[in-house]
Amino acid sequence: MINLSVDLGFLKLKNPVIAASGAFGYGLEFAPFFNLSKLGGIVVKGLYFSPREGNPPPRLAETHGGLINSIGLQGIGVERFSEEILPRLEKYDTAIIVNVCGDSDEEYASIVDFLSKKEGIAAFELNISCPNLKKDGLCPALDPEATYSLVSLVKKTSSRPLITKLSPNVTDIVEIALSAQEAGSDAISLVNTFLAMAVDPETRKPRLANIFGGLSGPAIKPIALRMVYQVASRVQIPVIGIGGILSGKDALEFLIAGAKAVEVGTANLVDPEATVKIIEELMDYCQKKKINNIEDIIGTLNINSEE
Ligand SMILES: Cc1cc2nc3c(=O)[nH]c(=O)nc-3n(C[C@H](O)[C@H](O)[C@H](O)COP(=O)(O)O)c2cc1C
Repeated sequence: MINLSVDLGFLKLKNPVIAASGAFGYGLEFAPFFNLSKLGGIVVKGLYFSPREGNPPPRLAETHGGLINSIGLQGIGVERFSEEILPRLEKYDTAIIVNVCGDSDEEYASIVDFLSKKEGIAAFELNISCPNLKKDGLCPALDPEATYSLVSLVKKTSSRPLITKLSPNVTDIVEIALSAQEAGSDAISLVNTFLAMAVDPETRKPRLANIFGGLSGPAIKPIALRMVYQVASRVQIPVIGIGGILSGKDALEFLIAGAKAVEVGTANLVDPEATVKIIEELMDYCQKKKINNIEDIIGTLNINSEE
């Protein structure tokens, strides 16, 4: 019997495949396609304390092997989420992770404080890529000290484990990961989207009303993988790999590079059953390679021998 479960220390997942924030709605939108209990976990769309409209359209631009989005963190806010969504998610046997956003460190803390009193949340994922209005629009994810102060403040108010989600738009991602770990983060997830833009030569206009957006999808996978490997080699806490995962083979690359689990985003927009297909492909791989526990392949990148 093959065991796909992975243990993050603070949370045991039935398999290493988690739906990533933003490309999987609040989870329930995907319930018509498959039983959500098949997933290792679901990270819901990022929540600010109050509802948000997001950016004006157009907010999506397709590129070769990727998608640029400038949704601008549209969301229903914590009250509606906890009244309307959370009770319906609770009936699924999967880890529900809430992606937390904020315009200030205090907003992150107040969301986590509010939701810490609710049942059915396994962990919080801090989307530290949000512009911090109190710090001149600088994202905490771009600065080790800002990361430290945000994570340590939220850690004090949270009754659940914290996963800090890093931005790839930095020179030294390991430095930011180490700051989050020092501040008490229980895990690191990476990467969020790469800052990008697209131009329409016919109109000479930007394809996104916001001019800039975040690039996701298979185009980013090799860079995300490199960053996951670098971070996993240096931190002691578990790492969750994200970026361009479309198949079981892609997920395996991240696990072998040191990720304990993976999150799948853009692939869900191409195929709503992408996550369950990835789980099946992981199972097939383990069967073929006679691997009883998927955990046995985590961090097994073979860099020394000539085998
Ligand atoms: C449409 C869209 C919305 C997203 N919204 C969020 C969000 O609310 N919070 C967050 O942390 N990441 C958000 N992301 C980033 C994804 O969770 C993920 O980190 C990124 O897309 C890379 O993974 P992928 O290539 O598998 O999509 C969003 C991505 C997309 C495509």
